[in-house]
Amino acid sequence: MATKIILDCDPGHDDAVAILLALASPDEIDLLGLTVVGGNVGLQSTVTNALRTTLLANREELPVYAGCPRPIMQPMVTAEHVHGDSGLDTASGELLAVPQTKVQTAHAVNMIIDTVRSHEPETVTLVATGPLTNIATAIAMAPDIVERLQQIVIMGGAFHEPGNITPAAEFNIYVDPHAARSVFECGANIVVFGLDVTHQMLISSARLEAIKNHAGRVGKAVADFLDFFNQYDMSKYGWDGAPLHDPCTIAWLIEPEIFNGRDMAVTVDSNDGPNLGRTVADWYQVTDRKPNAKVMTGGDSDRLFSLVVERLSQL
Ligand code: RIB
Ligand code: CA
Repeated sequence: MATKIILDCDPGHDDAVAILLALASPDEIDLLGLTVVGGNVGLQSTVTNALRTTLLANREELPVYAGCPRPIMQPMVTAEHVHGDSGLDTASGELLAVPQTKVQTAHAVNMIIDTVRSHEPETVTLVATGPLTNIATAIAMAPDIVERLQQIVIMGGAFHEPGNITPAAEFNIYVDPHAARSVFECGANIVVFGLDVTHQMLISSARLEAIKNHAGRVGKAVADFLDFFNQYDMSKYGWDGAPLHDPCTIAWLIEPEIFNGRDMAVTVDSNDGPNLGRTVADWYQVTDRKPNAKVMTGGDSDRLFSLVVERLSQL
């Protein structure tokens, strides 16, 4: 039985691959819709990039909902330095086409609430690959959805790894630390992919070539934008490729055995100062805090990229 998901995202190159991987895996994933949040770039651009991605997959009928343009309290922080001005810049300079289809009129937060309420309890999974503003707002507006959710699968946080937007914090959590704290404390079943695991999933030159040459029409377009996406992190970290963060969430829903992790108590620092947005895991249960998340700590990067290539070739 395919897992019903809402993918809340801020496309963003790696978000786009997560969307494509979900669309290419109908036996495992029933993608009910995309809810979009401001993050990597402003909301107008993240919505446009979500629409571009549906067209690339020839799935323009997939509903796209615009959500919150900015965090609950913090000033907006974006990442054009990583994703380019469009948020989905390409190496060739040719941006993906934008479809005729328009964004839905319903707000993303209302879509999340209505969808969870209209499905059987514990049958809808929220996947979050951007700042958690939409999800925290949905929970604040409709606390009843928490116990109706199957789980929340999050790309975000950094536990042993240093942060990527500040020394302490990962981007998705840092942009809206108050939303993140609210989600981690809400009581839902949470699975979290932090930089500890995503930094093991590098888009090496060999893997980029495999996507370009063995993942069909869609793979060629994906390789063009991942080639751009690689540049910033390769110069920042000196690695052979940027981390492919967001698709880890979808790949786990398809093949959970690719990854490993364990239940831990996770807290989010929402205080102003150098630790704003830090995610802290109680690795050895030294506090009396109950574990509230399954923290993913490792995975088989070859299996992840083989899955991405194999599935994209089917679109
Ligand atoms: O820190 C990486 C995360 O922030 C990814 O989800 C990327 O798309 C950005 O949203
Ligand atoms: Ca993202």
